[in-house]
Amino acid sequence: MDLGNNEAQTETQCNYARESIDANSPMTEEYRRTLLRLMANQAYGEHHASCLYQPWINRAPGVNERCIISKIVCEELSHWRGIVELMGELGIPWDKVRSYQSFHHFYPLVRLYVPVMKWTDVLMSTFLIDRAAFFMLEDYAYSSYTPWAKTVQASLEEEEEHGQFGMEFLSDQIENLGLPLVQKALNKWWRIALNMYGPPKSRHHDTYLRLGLKFRSNEDRRQIFIADSMQRIEEVSLTIPKLIHNRYPYF
Ligand SMILES: [Fe+2]
Ligand SMILES: [Fe+2]
Repeated sequence: MDLGNNEAQTETQCNYARESIDANSPMTEEYRRTLLRLMANQAYGEHHASCLYQPWINRAPGVNERCIISKIVCEELSHWRGIVELMGELGIPWDKVRSYQSFHHFYPLVRLYVPVMKWTDVLMSTFLIDRAAFFMLEDYAYSSYTPWAKTVQASLEEEEEHGQFGMEFLSDQIENLGLPLVQKALNKWWRIALNMYGPPKSRHHDTYLRLGLKFRSNEDRRQIFIADSMQRIEEVSLTIPKLIHNRYPYF
């Protein structure tokens, strides 16, 4: 991954170089608090993903699909464990991790869909949401906190495969259900994925950049995701959904 010149992407001065802080390094209260919040948010996302896919180990329509879903569930759970262990090194017991996370509108929204999810929705979730998550994790892989950067670097390859999984099986779904039904699912999940990044610039944006915990804005990540997805959507013969409101919040 070539990030180019990070400083060129932001006007905020980053005070922490990449992988410059360890668990035993002196840390300002602000750094520790911000780091714990971001890691707790990631831990929640990883755990949420494993719970979302878990019922499909027994519901996916084929042997291969069930085995791959089971692998994804294990990997998401292992990503969650990795973050929980990092927080443990900073003195946070695993059952207290959630108390450090901030609210994210995305999870209540997805929970509404979970009871009515169909296999096509699961594929869309891997195709779009895991891919969107990949670009969020990329920032963490380049963070100033070395243990976190190393842990996320190790999981990125698996996250890339998750996004690929949906893409591979979507063609089967198009053959079985027809293009219009799969396109309908894409139209729904496309909006969810675009909104997942939140407002163009979060209220903590400057702090994240200054502490070297992220290097891009929500909007930077969203635009990278859009460019990447447009190509992938066309590859599976679907159409890029038309939006009524083509900026955040997307609908
Ligand atoms: Fe993950
Ligand atoms: Fe994933």
